[in-house]
Amino acid sequence: MSTEQTFIAVKPDGVQRGLVGDIISRFEKRGYKLVALKMVSPSKEHLEKHYEDLSEKPFFKGLVTYMLSGPIVAMVWEGRDACKTGRSILGATNPLASAPGTIRGDYAIDVGRNVCHGSDGVESAKKEIALWFKPEEVQSYKNAQFDWIY
Ligand code: PPS
Repeated sequence: MSTEQTFIAVKPDGVQRGLVGDIISRFEKRGYKLVALKMVSPSKEHLEKHYEDLSEKPFFKGLVTYMLSGPIVAMVWEGRDACKTGRSILGATNPLASAPGTIRGDYAIDVGRNVCHGSDGVESAKKEIALWFKPEEVQSYKNAQFDWIY
């Protein structure tokens, strides 16, 4: 079975609005396996590194300030097509374009307060997981659910 990992983060607004449990639950119920999880308050430098590809964007400074406004829940989820399907569970980046039933489509309105982050592909997931987690923080275990799902 080919599986991949994706980096998913609940952003400060999602944490402060009490959405962490719901977000975890959606990934679990869909059939993804949680292999790493921590609550962190990253530094400005860490966030600038995470968003380095966006450093020329006009919203870059505001995005980093928003992400510094409280703790974040950082996670790694594993399973088939985890990056692409993870993004579809989150919904479109702009919540106004997110379908109802997605996390952003259910909980967000403003692109600058869009509740969650997900890697946009396998290569960026690898980079993001390496930035946010030490290798020993990412677990490997058998999930009984997988026997039924795959
Ligand atoms: S872009 O412009 O296409 O590269 O941006 P996009 O891939 O859609 O989004 C990348 C991340 O930037 C955030 N973003 C914004 N933040 C604040 N204000 C505005 N206007 C804005 N536009 C995009 C967006 O939420 C993405 O964050 P992550 O954490 O990757 O979801």
